[in-house]
Amino acid sequence: MKVLANDGLSASGVKPLEKAGIQVILKTVAQEQLADFINENKVDVLLVRSATKVRKDLIDACPGLKIIGRGGVGMDNIDVEYAKSKGIKVINTPAASSHSVAELVFAHLFGMVRFLHDANQNMPLMGDTHFNQLKKSYEKGAELKGKTLGLLGFGRIGQATAKVALGIGMKVIAYDPFIDSAHLTLDFYDGQTVSFTIDTISKEEVLKQADFISLHVPAQKEYVISTKEFGMMKKGAGIVNAARGGVIDEVALVKAIEDGIISNAALDVFESEPAPEIQLLMNKNISLTPHIGAATLEAQDRIGEELAAQIIAYSA
Ligand SMILES: NC(=O)c1ccc[n+]([C@@H]2O[C@H](COP(=O)([O-])OP(=O)(O)OC[C@H]3O[C@@H](n4cnc5c(N)ncnc54)[C@H](O)[C@@H]3O)[C@@H](O)[C@H]2O)c1
Repeated sequence: MKVLANDGLSASGVKPLEKAGIQVILKTVAQEQLADFINENKVDVLLVRSATKVRKDLIDACPGLKIIGRGGVGMDNIDVEYAKSKGIKVINTPAASSHSVAELVFAHLFGMVRFLHDANQNMPLMGDTHFNQLKKSYEKGAELKGKTLGLLGFGRIGQATAKVALGIGMKVIAYDPFIDSAHLTLDFYDGQTVSFTIDTISKEEVLKQADFISLHVPAQKEYVISTKEFGMMKKGAGIVNAARGGVIDEVALVKAIEDGIISNAALDVFESEPAPEIQLLMNKNISLTPHIGAATLEAQDRIGEELAAQIIAYSA
């Protein structure tokens, strides 16, 4: 078998594939040349991340393809049902990046409560001339320990985020219309474990009780958080969106910050990616990252391992 990893593949995936006698081509072929390359090189497996598009026309043009693999969760760039209807196996690695996203949520939360995103901008500009003034403006920091984290969406990433929260002494509450309860086991470095069972509660209760809200829902037609939901939150709450652009109403978010309902927000994903609204980018109460939730070396290694295992199992 021959694999084309068009958006890259970590060594943890390449090594086991090659060991199993499967050739791996690590090359990024331009979208318009992809069909010809796949056919000329007799590629059986096309691996992509989010950059390469695997649409109906490509699938039709490459009858030799046996597997399409997506390193990561979202399959928006692949016509999955059409590929399946043509007998192509479609695989992904849904769990590989959950902990990476969870840690990014906490990078934002820890940063937010001590104004790090703002301090990191102002220290280089004024740190040597206005040190005491800056010190004063960041003096009302807060701790996360003892606070309540409200999770909207309690699937893989929601639960991974809950574990990090529990580990630092936060209370966790969650809403998920399809999950009533989750049993979470925290694993410590020395083999000790601690287990928690968290029963989900209503969305309204989560919004009312949480000091911080973090969203972990799939893309949907309607906003999960808009003006009405901001109106239900605790005054001064924080909110993080590392799920999908479009699950928070960004106009309502800016208004909620201006009205003091939300003290701080963090966004890793945006409604108008890859050109987020300037009102968000320039807002000093928003901690920002460019959709990097899953982008850790560890997640890439797990993605490589999981894809390789699935391809080897198929070829056996
Ligand atoms: N920032 C990043 O780089 C990054 C990386 C990976 C995944 N994600 C995104 O994170 C999100 C969650 O991923 P996951 O792997 O945990 O998915 P998952 O399918 O395991 O969990 C999603 C959960 O959301 C629940 N849900 C659906 N609609 C809901 C609603 N309106 N309110 C509350 N809960 C609702 C579902 O029942 C499900 O349990 C997805 O949108 C995914 O695309 C982002």
